[in-house]
Amino acid sequence: MINIEQVNAEQMRTFQKSLTRFMMYYRFGLEEVNTKINILKQEFEYVHDYNPIEHVKSRLKTPESIINKLQRKNYPWSVESIRENIRDIAGIRITCSFVPDIYRVAGMLMQQQDITVLDYKDYIEEPKPNGYQSLHMILQVPVFMSDRMEKVFVEVQIRTIAMDFWASLEHKIYYKYEREVPQQLKDDLKEAADTVAQLDRKMEQIHQEMLRLKASDDEMLLQQEPSSDLVGKSEDRRTGEMNTGEAGDEKACAGKTCSEKEDAGRISTDAKGLTVTPASTASNTPLSGNSFTLPAELFSLLFSTSDQS
Ligand code: GTP
Ligand code: MG
Repeated sequence: MINIEQVNAEQMRTFQKSLTRFMMYYRFGLEEVNTKINILKQEFEYVHDYNPIEHVKSRLKTPESIINKLQRKNYPWSVESIRENIRDIAGIRITCSFVPDIYRVAGMLMQQQDITVLDYKDYIEEPKPNGYQSLHMILQVPVFMSDRMEKVFVEVQIRTIAMDFWASLEHKIYYKYEREVPQQLKDDLKEAADTVAQLDRKMEQIHQEMLRLKASDDEMLLQQEPSSDLVGKSEDRRTGEMNTGEAGDEKACAGKTCSEKEDAGRISTDAKGLTVTPASTASNTPLSGNSFTLPAELFSLLFSTSDQS
């Protein structure tokens, strides 16, 4: 005789197990994309000495919220339907300082070979009627398990700090009200959204101006160095500290490939205030301040370029 309670408990366990496994795929998908973002962030900062990403938040939709969405959108109640229709179970929000950074980060993600872009909505180019701005993408990433590969949807929202500020306030207002939000409040929110767009444009303009000033500053410094009375020294403009070494050598290498520098037996990355000297060729250079000595083999391993081979 079949005990109905036992069967239900058994079914329940099976369902719970498959749901846990199902959610696990999304957690892995989230981790995959988070890792990609983290790599981009670190590598971009290393190469360009600039970080386009302010912060990253990720979340998995709760089962309750998945069911609510099934109901709200009138989708069939099945795991298959959830898999096909609910594409924001895994969600990542990236906050950038400036609008061009948003497109830069989106572009770097989209061009990755294992990522498929299924949806791209640019609410910055075309804000929602309420003023909402953000760049949305639905990405699909492969997740490799012990016995199979699953393609998982991950929703990525990219926005500026100002857009994020606006969206979180707007969300709170709707969440708190639960009824029709008064028109006056809607108008105020729309006005605030316009101010956000204006602020983002202004911040970007200031940032560009700062970059322009810095570039012309660097250019001037580079031109001054050989003829100045800093012979034998170079100044780190961030720390104000002096690096020992031959000024001519440092000028030849600043911001360039190391092959030129290797001839001179010394390399300086003045933006970081670092001077590296190979032991064999410049053994008299003191190990002090921002200088340090490298064994010659390590020096050539680290700083040799393809045009030398
Ligand atoms: P969903 O059914 O909510 O997924 O909407 P959709 O499939 O039409 O996608 P859309 O890209 O428009 O919105 C997805 C997500 O963006 C939402 O779940 C919110 O997190 C965010 N979002 C979209 N519109 C707004 C808005 O007007 N205000 C705020 N605060 N967030 C929004
Ligand atoms: Mg969505």
